[in-house]
Amino acid sequence: MAVLHLFTTLCYIFFSSSAALVPPASSTIQPNKCRSYCGNITIDYPFALQHGCGHPGFRDLLFCINDVLMFHITSGSYRVLEIDYAYQSLTLHDPHMSTCDTMVLGQQGNGFALDDWRSPYFNPTPDNVFMLIGCSAKSPLFQGFPGKHLPCRNVSGMGCEEYYGCPAWSLAGRKRAGTVYGSGPPECCAVGFESIKVINLTRLDCEGYSSAYSLAPLRISGPGEWAYGIRVKYSAQSNDGFCRACEATGGTCGYGSDGVRQLCMCGSMNSTSNCDSAVKSSSIRSWSATESLAGFFLFTSIWMTINQN
Ligand SMILES: *[C@@H]1O[C@H](CO)[C@@H](O)[C@H](O)[C@H]1NC(C)=O
Ligand SMILES: *[C@@H]1O[C@H](CO)[C@@H](O)[C@H](O)[C@H]1NC(C)=O
Ligand SMILES: *[C@@H]1O[C@H](CO)[C@@H](O)[C@H](O)[C@H]1NC(C)=O
Ligand SMILES: *[C@@H]1O[C@H](CO)[C@@H](O)[C@H](O)[C@H]1NC(C)=O
Repeated sequence: MAVLHLFTTLCYIFFSSSAALVPPASSTIQPNKCRSYCGNITIDYPFALQHGCGHPGFRDLLFCINDVLMFHITSGSYRVLEIDYAYQSLTLHDPHMSTCDTMVLGQQGNGFALDDWRSPYFNPTPDNVFMLIGCSAKSPLFQGFPGKHLPCRNVSGMGCEEYYGCPAWSLAGRKRAGTVYGSGPPECCAVGFESIKVINLTRLDCEGYSSAYSLAPLRISGPGEWAYGIRVKYSAQSNDGFCRACEATGGTCGYGSDGVRQLCMCGSMNSTSNCDSAVKSSSIRSWSATESLAGFFLFTSIWMTINQN
């Protein structure tokens, strides 16, 4: 009876002490060292301002200069007006982009072009229209013309026909010539990003460009009310699951010094999966220590009890 009682007590001590050694999930949650702000814009995964934070495809991309968030890619630097984490999009502004009020010519604008390694992660949205202005007849846009159809079209109800109505055109003293096919290339050609993939004003031989996006489902009456800017959809692709698992276990998502491998930062250590597996591997070690200690006590007390009788 005494032996059984002692055994139960020891078992109780063993299980309660080992349970205390497994840290509750909440104690492993670290403050997210990667989340930050620039002006009133929140910078969160997959974006980051610090090296080693966020998704590797988004590294060396955002810079905060005097509370102004800048997006830097091959074609140039853009001001970030908004990051919409729910819709996974960001809105960019290029100061050398033409709008309804001003026209900027002389190939000063950035257009939109990404490095190959970064292109899987960003795409201007399908409802974003690029209006290419003053492209020469030699432009790749018009090659095959007139046999081939011009790539120019309306995107989400926005196109050059309406854009010609903007004050910028009369201010710049541009004529709206060439709108009739057959009399040379049009002064303005609207395209979606999907049809040409790279908006490079030098390669396309265009003088300038404008970009507008629709804030669906609002029906906007005219080009004076269009939203000017570049709306870009971003995606961390299949690796998104890595970060979800990491954050669910209290970690912060980042990447290794190679700039490729994703890491889950769990307080004092980095894991290649998530913080549960990092904690599990360290608690397994303490479990075995407790186990051997408890086993030793159990053995000793049973031996002593038996020898007393
Ligand atoms: C951020 O501030 C700018 C002006 O500084 C304002 O136009 C914009 O609406 C603000 N954005 C948010 C999300 O509060
Ligand atoms: C974890 O990874 C981050 C980002 O690469 C690095 O800054 C940090 O030093 C690493 N920490 C440890 C403990 O290795
Ligand atoms: C744009 O095209 C020109 C000429 O083809 C090229 O030299 C330049 O590197 C391109 N720019 C970008 C950002 O791709
Ligand atoms: C674009 O829409 C306008 C107005 O609805 C129309 O007049 C024009 O022909 C369209 N352009 C193209 C290229 O479809």
